[in-house]
Amino acid sequence: MSADARVQKYIDQSRMLANKARKRFRHLHKRFARQQIDVFRLYDWDIPEIRATVDWYAGHLVIGEYTRKQSTPDWLPMMGKAVAEALMVPVDKIHLKTRFYGKADGKRYERLDYTDRSIVVRERDLRFHVNLWDYVDTGLFSDHRNTRQMVREMAAGKDVLNLFCYSGSFSCSAAKGGAHRTLSVDRSRTAIAWARRNMELNGIPDTNNRLVQAHAFDYLAEALRNKERFDLAVVDPPSFYTRRSRKDGFDILEDHPGLLSAVAALMRSGGVIIFSTNHQDFKLDTKRLAFTSIKEITTRTIPEDYVNKRKTIHRCWEVIL
Ligand SMILES: C[S@@+](CC[C@H](N)C(=O)[O-])C[C@H]1O[C@@H](n2cnc3c(N)ncnc32)[C@H](O)[C@@H]1O
Repeated sequence: MSADARVQKYIDQSRMLANKARKRFRHLHKRFARQQIDVFRLYDWDIPEIRATVDWYAGHLVIGEYTRKQSTPDWLPMMGKAVAEALMVPVDKIHLKTRFYGKADGKRYERLDYTDRSIVVRERDLRFHVNLWDYVDTGLFSDHRNTRQMVREMAAGKDVLNLFCYSGSFSCSAAKGGAHRTLSVDRSRTAIAWARRNMELNGIPDTNNRLVQAHAFDYLAEALRNKERFDLAVVDPPSFYTRRSRKDGFDILEDHPGLLSAVAALMRSGGVIIFSTNHQDFKLDTKRLAFTSIKEITTRTIPEDYVNKRKTIHRCWEVIL
């Protein structure tokens, strides 16, 4: 394709993307504003040749391109500029990200910058610090907005485990829902510090809301030895991770039965595990899962701004022990 033809194609695509995002924003923003929801999705690869996501973060725009395969480096900035103009967002509030998927998943957690800047966004009566500058992920997965609300409604009086807690948003929801205690585990020191800041921001005391920096399986083994027990667990692991050796790594397709049974061993009778994955080819291995009650609840957990014909952003199950 000639350079001129490529530029023309990008201009056409940027117009289409900007139109879609503007229409979506008009449709959603008042309703979300009434609910004090500052973060929502405006576009997710709705048009096959425009492999982008557009997210609204309280007046900022985060625009992502799925792994760059068919475009040149000027594609994403052009898309960003067009969407920003359509929504009248100034240039310093546009954040462009390239998203890596598949086995290159680890790249999602690589740092892009070192600003350590954050803004505070609202999700109903909760507040979260999000960093739109330094990482591909911002600190808040808004596709789990409804799941957090569900956890909040289930948490009263419960001992709650949040494994792979990241910035602690599920723990904040559980604590606000009246959990007896929350225990949040993540292997990343940055994530644990982030979760602590989010708890402080929401006035959640650290007594009864412990944050543990540990590998998930190490924590599960130790908790079993210590006879820890929980009534509600949120298990939202990455699709893959590597550790000291290949054999120590985790691949959700293969390893979810082992993970869920290790969590189940800590649950009281009648306890509930909420399990979620973003892996697009995930299949629940029912043969290796020995639970009597396991129910997919994805239709309840996907918020309306994430309903998408092309893909289901996450899938979610409720296991009752
Ligand atoms: C998909 S995010 C979890 C999102 C979180 N549930 C939320 O809603 O915000 C995955 C998290 O798993 C953590 N992680 C990766 N490998 C881990 C391991 N071996 N043990 C514990 N945490 C791990 C990462 O640091 C990251 O914070």
